[in-house]
Amino acid sequence: MKTSMLRKTVLAALVSACMAGTAYAQADYLADFHTEMGGCENCHASEKGPTDDNLKYENTQCVSCHGDLKEVAANDPKDIVSPHASHLIGDIACTACHKGHEKSVAYCDACHSFGYDMPFQGKWKRTFVPVNADKQAQDAAIAAGPTESTDVVVIGSGGAGLAAAVAARNHHASVILLEKEPIPGGNSKLAAGGMNAAETKVQAKLGIKDKKEIMIADTMKGGHEKNDSQLVKVLANNSSDSIDWLMSMGADMNDVGRMGGASVNRAHRPTGGAGVGAEVTQILWDAAVQRGTDIRFNSRVVRILEAGGKVTGVLVQGARTGYYVIKTDAVVLATGGFAKNNERVAKFDPKLKGFAATNHPGATGDGLDVATQAGAATRDLQYIQAHPTYSPVGGVMVTEAVRGNGAILINRDGKRFVNEITTRDKASAAILAQKGASAYLVFDNSVRKSLSKIENYIHLHIVEQGATLADLAKEMGVPAKNLEASVASYNKFVKSGKDDQYGRPDMPRELNHGPYYAIEVKPAVHHTMGGVVIDTKGEVKDTKGNIIKGLYAAGEVTGGVHGANRLGGNAISDIVTFGRIAGTDAAVFAEKESK
Ligand code: FAD
Ligand code: SIN
Repeated sequence: MKTSMLRKTVLAALVSACMAGTAYAQADYLADFHTEMGGCENCHASEKGPTDDNLKYENTQCVSCHGDLKEVAANDPKDIVSPHASHLIGDIACTACHKGHEKSVAYCDACHSFGYDMPFQGKWKRTFVPVNADKQAQDAAIAAGPTESTDVVVIGSGGAGLAAAVAARNHHASVILLEKEPIPGGNSKLAAGGMNAAETKVQAKLGIKDKKEIMIADTMKGGHEKNDSQLVKVLANNSSDSIDWLMSMGADMNDVGRMGGASVNRAHRPTGGAGVGAEVTQILWDAAVQRGTDIRFNSRVVRILEAGGKVTGVLVQGARTGYYVIKTDAVVLATGGFAKNNERVAKFDPKLKGFAATNHPGATGDGLDVATQAGAATRDLQYIQAHPTYSPVGGVMVTEAVRGNGAILINRDGKRFVNEITTRDKASAAILAQKGASAYLVFDNSVRKSLSKIENYIHLHIVEQGATLADLAKEMGVPAKNLEASVASYNKFVKSGKDDQYGRPDMPRELNHGPYYAIEVKPAVHHTMGGVVIDTKGEVKDTKGNIIKGLYAAGEVTGGVHGANRLGGNAISDIVTFGRIAGTDAAVFAEKESK
């Protein structure tokens, strides 16, 4: 049969199986199902099964029959949310969800609840395996010695890791990038509201007056002055260059909006208000690939090897290849935070025990364990941030940009209760103090039109709507009169330019264009401000304050940039700026060492 015809037949069969929820449910594993269509060679190049940790051959085989993500998404039933049409960057990795010899698990099910049982899914369950488990096998691999070497190893394929890899490749270092998950992008690919930067060309074009000093002051104030002020200066002073760097590689950062705690509009994002994370990580991914970075998935770094205070290599656990050692002089740790590991979160902040998290499944904090084993000092681990607006219905964070663009927060009495664009700690505390410990984000059609990210929430079926405020109040189950009065008085404040009730400093538009919308929201663990101690060059310090030579870190795994409370939009700025710095410095260090 011709490939295109075979594809069509397979797709049609899958769609009807989906609708009926049958075919795969009857077969124990996909391998059983596929044996009917031939032998092991249907999926594998070798009878022994997968030969590399990226499962490149197996993924290509899936695509050859079923089509790429676009084709599969186009054939998904229209009345359900398509899991194939979401924030995925990088090469297609069908095997992230569709397993051959074990039960398939929908990766997105780790975070989202779709309100129906997804076909071909197993219920998501993941237990955290400590990095020092299996010590005997690890020691044996170390004793066997390195199997390969490279100038720079980058750990983590989020924005910080990808920026570091691109920067290191720009300095002609050979780079191996190791990612423990089956797909790239970490939390970075989920980022929504924007990337903060001051004195940018885009701001100038839009007539926005900003100063790096104001960004520094906002960041220090938001962080309750617990930040490392030297790191904050690096963040703000390089932020505009970081935007230029991304745009020089093709990123669209032409829309600028307001995030909580900022006194000026400085959150840069794509035109129309699409999510910033998908844009930034896709651009960095493409740049890393184009520059020939050796990127390996399902590859967890479990130890950084060092001798006499200097890095010598890393111990990797490949899902298929097992433990092996890479020799290197320079490592960039870019492993992100630990918000998805509630046990660890609750250890540092017991108030957050049992809270949901906005993060991707890999945000478990392995990097901290690996770093501290190698002697790194940590700081501020007790500072953990809840994002105020997480949808418990969809399991998805609703970006602060919705409030920045004009949405208000309404409680179960139909009343406003807070300055909606205050810092996250204050907004979260205010929501938790309301009846039901949750609230509603309420906005109108003009806010919807101003931010294309809102279409994602509508797609996920987490948005209530009504032609009038009274209709919406019915859907929300709040008193219509109160909701109408709250919106009317807010609109008056917009007109007068002064919020007499809660002192909201920026009210971009009146809410008077129907239809009206509401999303139920409550706080969820979002960002871990603490991490390893670094200096302004991204060098990691040990517990005595000395530099661990050759060890660099960037992004959410580090502490100090955000103090006790991070401002919305500052993390993407952090990962691009410090990722670039760490990658460049690691490459320069490796070059010196090789001479
Ligand atoms: P990540 O992007 O999380 O990447 C770390 C990577 O390291 C992961 O892929 C992980 O699997 C991998 N890893 C971990 N341990 C190991 C190991 N041992 N071996 C190999 N790999 C490992 N910030 C903003 O500024 N603006 C926003 O609009 C914004 N929106 C957000 C929306 C959501 C839903 C979330 C969750 C966060 C948002 N943030 C935002 C925060 C921001 O996205 C993160 O703080 C930032 O992206 C972290 O980047 P990172 O590169 O440090 O870590
Ligand atoms: C959001 O878009 O609300 C998240 C922004 C951030 O975490 O910085």
